[in-house]
Amino acid sequence: MNRVLVIHGPNLNLLGTREPEVYGAVRLDEIDRDLNSLAQELELELRIVQTNHEGEIVETIQNSRNWAQVIIINPAAYTHTSIAIPDTLKAISVPSIEVHMSNVYAREEFRRQSFLAGVVVGRIMGFGVYSYLLALRAAKALLAR
Ligand code: DQA
Repeated sequence: MNRVLVIHGPNLNLLGTREPEVYGAVRLDEIDRDLNSLAQELELELRIVQTNHEGEIVETIQNSRNWAQVIIINPAAYTHTSIAIPDTLKAISVPSIEVHMSNVYAREEFRRQSFLAGVVVGRIMGFGVYSYLLALRAAKALLAR
């Protein structure tokens, strides 16, 4: 089975109660449950990590570089601030997909900047939980290439 790593960045553990007008009412454990059931259907092995720490994202990517065949990452606020995360993705040879629940272009100006945008294969945003599910389907397509 092909192996996919999903990384949820800071504050995504608060989904369900965090700004529901932006992110909806879905909780992170519900997203993970939907991801796991789609992974089964697509015959993918999934590892899911949530962390609020930038360095932990860096270490998770580094430590998964020989396991993961695709990385799906919602870097959350680190999208707009982190150089370390795209540097790590550039340093390894695993294709990655950037995910956002919300359409970052329809929000504050600072959210338009993504330091990952030039490093990932593609970006999926604005579809809530479906952003993740679409990313998993995109991962499957990448692996079939
Ligand atoms: C987010 C968008 C980011 O701008 C924000 O900082 C988040 C969540 C999203 O999934 O829509 O924490 O990545």
